[in-house]
Amino acid sequence: MSAVNYSLSTSNMPDPQVPDEAHPVDLTGLRPLPRISIHAFCESEQMLRTMEQMGRDRRMAKVNMRVTNGGTEAAASMFSGSPTPNLIILETDVQPSGLLAELAPLADVCDPSTRVIVVGRYNDIALYRELIRNGISEYLVGPVQMVEILSSIAAIFVDPEAEPVGKSIAFVGAKGGVGSSTIAHNCAFGISTLFSTETILADLDLPFGTANIDFDQDPAQGIAEAVFAPDRLDEVFLDRLLTKCSEHLSMLAAPSLLDRAYDYEGMAFQPIVEILQRSAPVAVLDLPHVWSEWTRSVLAAADEVVICAVPDLANLRNTKNMLDALKKLRPNDHAPHLILNQVGMPKRPEIAPNDFFEPLEVEPIAILPFDAALFGNAANSGRMITEIDAKSPAAETFSQICHIVTGRSAAKKAKKGGLGKMLGLLGRK
Ligand SMILES: Nc1ncnc2c1ncn2[C@@H]1O[C@H](COP(=O)(O)OP(=O)(O)O)[C@@H](O)[C@H]1O
Ligand SMILES: [Mg+2]
Repeated sequence: MSAVNYSLSTSNMPDPQVPDEAHPVDLTGLRPLPRISIHAFCESEQMLRTMEQMGRDRRMAKVNMRVTNGGTEAAASMFSGSPTPNLIILETDVQPSGLLAELAPLADVCDPSTRVIVVGRYNDIALYRELIRNGISEYLVGPVQMVEILSSIAAIFVDPEAEPVGKSIAFVGAKGGVGSSTIAHNCAFGISTLFSTETILADLDLPFGTANIDFDQDPAQGIAEAVFAPDRLDEVFLDRLLTKCSEHLSMLAAPSLLDRAYDYEGMAFQPIVEILQRSAPVAVLDLPHVWSEWTRSVLAAADEVVICAVPDLANLRNTKNMLDALKKLRPNDHAPHLILNQVGMPKRPEIAPNDFFEPLEVEPIAILPFDAALFGNAANSGRMITEIDAKSPAAETFSQICHIVTGRSAAKKAKKGGLGKMLGLLGRK
């Protein structure tokens, strides 16, 4: 899973500095970093070497690290055309008075969830405060040692007090067979490919789950091991249970076996969801159409909930009841996202989308057409919709859903607003 790639040749560089008495390397107690992506922009030779040294540290084994020779300008131009990583480390020798203006073009193209560590030249407390106020996660005074940077990253992504890195997105159907799993799997795949974000898909339908079929995988173990052996569950154990589906997507597959009954305590999935959120930036939870203590608690705790429905009366009634129930379970969150699926099935009497959503008082985030050939081919060949037909309207709709559920705006346009507002986009929301 280690994916350390450098965008410049390192072959003729001197060895990284050996620790000396003034700068002892004390990494004891630092936990390995989760599956995040980091892109470092270095202006000095020293910083370049420090970043490369860090990339080789065992705590970085799961991190997707890139190092580029350049500063803020290089970063801004690179990310104007590609998704931003989870963390940008930026070395700059700009004067304190010019730093915010220097960062503005980057803020313009930066994803709201991306964290930024700035390594500057000036020890200036007013500057430090101003940067932190504007959403920069940390300001370090260079030249920095590897241990300083690694500790700063750990403080953002590993510290038990820090917010978990990962966002959990739960998909559930208003009835069985409405395509909730299909949508969950395509979104998990979409998020991992569109944004190069490490994503974990957890199939919570243990007896009948289809993530294994949809991704053409036959893992020996998966989510059952995690849910029935909670005391063994930690990052190392999780790594053994994950199956790799594609470059940035791993899956916690269901056994899909009927050799036992699947009954759970109300909080049975809580430890799994928690560890997923500490391990990767996005966890997609594929829930079965079940309303019991454990599904309610997963839905109550998820960062985003997506309800999938097809346009008939039973789906409308169930969606309404689910929206009401979830409002009570999640009083301080926005309403779940709604997706209307399988719209336009030949000869089937349907409720028109407008008539479906009007009584619910919620706008859908997407309406997917019924397309037996496209979805049937995908399901039977273990491939995703974009792999079958990237140009299909359904593929485009999945891309929009991926943007919305991860809190990204659909298109990367320059945002208008004051400098402070733009810089606010750099930091934690
Ligand atoms: N938009 C669609 N058009 C045609 N078939 C679809 C569509 N969405 C899903 N399907 C098919 O519907 C079936 C049920 O989907 P599934 O994702 O397992 O539903 P759920 O998880 O809600 O029970 C699958 O065979 C799937 O391929
Ligand atoms: Mg399902």
